[in-house]
Amino acid sequence: MDLRLSTEQQMIVDAVRDFAQGRLAPRAAEVDATGVFPLDAIRECAALGLCAMNVPEDAGGTGVGPVAAALAIQELARADASISVTQSVTNMVAEAIWRFGNPDQWRRFIPMAAAGDYPIGAFVLTEPGAGSDATAQKTTAVLDGDAYVINGTKNFITSAAYAGVFIVMARAGKQGSKGISAFLVERGAPGMRVGKEEDKMGLRGSNTAELVFENCRVPVENRLGEEGIGFKVAMSALDGGRINVASQALGIARAALRDAVEYAKTREAFGKPIAELQAIQWKIADMATQLDAAEMLILRAAWLKQEKRPYTREASMAKLYSTEAANRAVKEALQVLGGYGYCRDYPLERYFRDCKVTTIYEGTSEIQRLVIARHTLAMIG
Ligand code: CAA
Repeated sequence: MDLRLSTEQQMIVDAVRDFAQGRLAPRAAEVDATGVFPLDAIRECAALGLCAMNVPEDAGGTGVGPVAAALAIQELARADASISVTQSVTNMVAEAIWRFGNPDQWRRFIPMAAAGDYPIGAFVLTEPGAGSDATAQKTTAVLDGDAYVINGTKNFITSAAYAGVFIVMARAGKQGSKGISAFLVERGAPGMRVGKEEDKMGLRGSNTAELVFENCRVPVENRLGEEGIGFKVAMSALDGGRINVASQALGIARAALRDAVEYAKTREAFGKPIAELQAIQWKIADMATQLDAAEMLILRAAWLKQEKRPYTREASMAKLYSTEAANRAVKEALQVLGGYGYCRDYPLERYFRDCKVTTIYEGTSEIQRLVIARHTLAMIG
């Protein structure tokens, strides 16, 4: 057993950390305050090869592998969680195109997520009536000659207004999971428009909006995989996405722990730095221990994925534990800073707002428990 990173993995982490701390962290508060989508920073991420990290180089990605990719997402989140979610979803989309697409689709669509003016992918699954119950898709895709005609409304779509390519799940067949197919739709496709943009509590530098499909014609050759496998495309993409959301939460919480420790060493109360008070030390000990446990779960899931072994259960465990632990840690770190933590002069309140959604999107904590329980019940006995 060897828990060390390879030289290449360490180099990737160091490079992303330098970029994220140098370029993203200094403007994260401004991005949060203005809510302006940082497209220029996303383009810099693309130039660094951070959009298709699990896609091999010969298919248009950087092929660094799931372990390095998870660590890179963590580094982005330590600097600016909004950028980390945009990158996390983009990577999920690029990888799904590679995994389920044909070489022609790789050539056409992976560059739309990894290069160009809008190097961003969007994963279009959720509907007003199909969130946790993702099988309840109402959006339809009806075959008409050489194209599918898509109609319906999707909501809470990350990067809906900025993506270059969209993987759209829609019902092309009967009810249930086997009636769902996946389609590749380009930015600007006639019949696809951005609806209401959400005014969110956190991740204010990421874009989340409704997408409306009104007789949107998608050529048959844009179907991703066979008809009827769309739900499997979505679920297996989410397996990987959940590792990255876990990493995102961990990155936010590591930033919070760092800020709490720095503050505790300099803030004095009762005649000494509060870091010398046991009440504060216990908080720091719990945060540090739980964040390391989260990291171990994330790395295990990423390693299994890298080894091409099953990892659905482990990805859900990593997401459940890391996002819940990160929320606890951010709350405790804010408590260490007291009144200062509650004010916008310090980033703790932003971490608090940014972290919350990690227990909600890409499957709530309750859905992760459902997945873990189903697998565990099937494994034992
Ligand atoms: N990989 C491959 N196939 C899978 C799978 C996986 N991980 N999980 C399920 N499947 C397959 C099953 O094997 C089954 O196929 P068969 O019938 O051939 O056996 C089929 O899919 C249906 O599976 P279930 O019976 O388990 O389906 P279910 O209706 O019980 O739902 C669920 C399962 C786990 C609850 C699922 O609906 C789910 O994950 N819900 C949460 C949805 C979610 O995470 N949404 C996130 C939106 S995207 C987002 O948030 C991105 C963002 O913007 C940040």
